[in-house]
Amino acid sequence: MKLIVTGATGFVGSEVVRQALRNPFVTSVAVIARKAVPVPPNEDASKLKSFVLDDWTSDYPDSLIEHIKGADACIWSLAVTPSQSRSMDFAQVTTICHDYTINGIQNMIKAANKPFRFVYVSGVLTERDQSKVLPSLGEYRHLRGRTENCLLDIAKENSPNVQVTVTKPGAIDAPSVKETSDAMLKSLFNMFGYTPRVHVSELAAAMIDQCQNGITKDPLWSDELATIGKRVLKEEDYL
Ligand SMILES: NC(=O)c1ccc[n+]([C@@H]2O[C@H](COP(=O)([O-])OP(=O)(O)OC[C@H]3O[C@@H](n4cnc5c(N)ncnc54)[C@H](OP(=O)(O)O)[C@@H]3O)[C@@H](O)[C@H]2O)c1
Repeated sequence: MKLIVTGATGFVGSEVVRQALRNPFVTSVAVIARKAVPVPPNEDASKLKSFVLDDWTSDYPDSLIEHIKGADACIWSLAVTPSQSRSMDFAQVTTICHDYTINGIQNMIKAANKPFRFVYVSGVLTERDQSKVLPSLGEYRHLRGRTENCLLDIAKENSPNVQVTVTKPGAIDAPSVKETSDAMLKSLFNMFGYTPRVHVSELAAAMIDQCQNGITKDPLWSDELATIGKRVLKEEDYL
């Protein structure tokens, strides 16, 4: 499987890359980023091919189309997180979260194998129903939901050649991560009566599994991702 990864310098994307490099089923990891992507420590980087892209809203250049040609799947973990979005101009957040993603999948479809599986990393707080009134972070949560809707429409229009699922983790755990101190996020998580959570290694394993073995459902919530991730991490000894 040739796997495209975006957001590879980030918290989620770097774990996806680390696991993909170890996964014998993954033959090639084609990263697209705005800067050079460091090789994860102690990993064999021979399968890792990076492309640095400056303009994410235009047709991909031929050299990038060549880079992603024959891809079987993409894990898109590039985005502005809710906390980051609050200090940014919303037009810029929209461009990065929505326009980059939709332009990305449309360009990838031109170069990818069929079926092409696209796993979009979103979050538990995003809202697909654009008419729903949201008390906090509404603009951002609707934006991310709108991107999910658009991706699912693209999958429908291109069915069965393009398959999409959206992962909706809540808090993502890792040894290096402390419980969020963001009061707004904490209060939003309180809506659920608990904080939905998944470990970053389970999340990455579950998403690679969806690419490898087929998309099982949309969306995938924290507990579902944790279940799939735990099964994969238990079954596979290369992790
Ligand atoms: N972290 C969590 O606890 C959590 C929880 C639930 C959902 N999520 C979702 O998971 C996804 C990934 O989050 P994360 O925690 O991995 O975020 P992160 O660590 O901030 O990583 C974001 C990635 O997006 C890239 N990116 C951001 N702006 C960009 C731009 N203008 N051009 C090109 N690349 C850009 C970053 O690249 P640079 O390194 O070049 O900036 C980085 O690779 C997001 O959709 C987020 O909402 C995260």
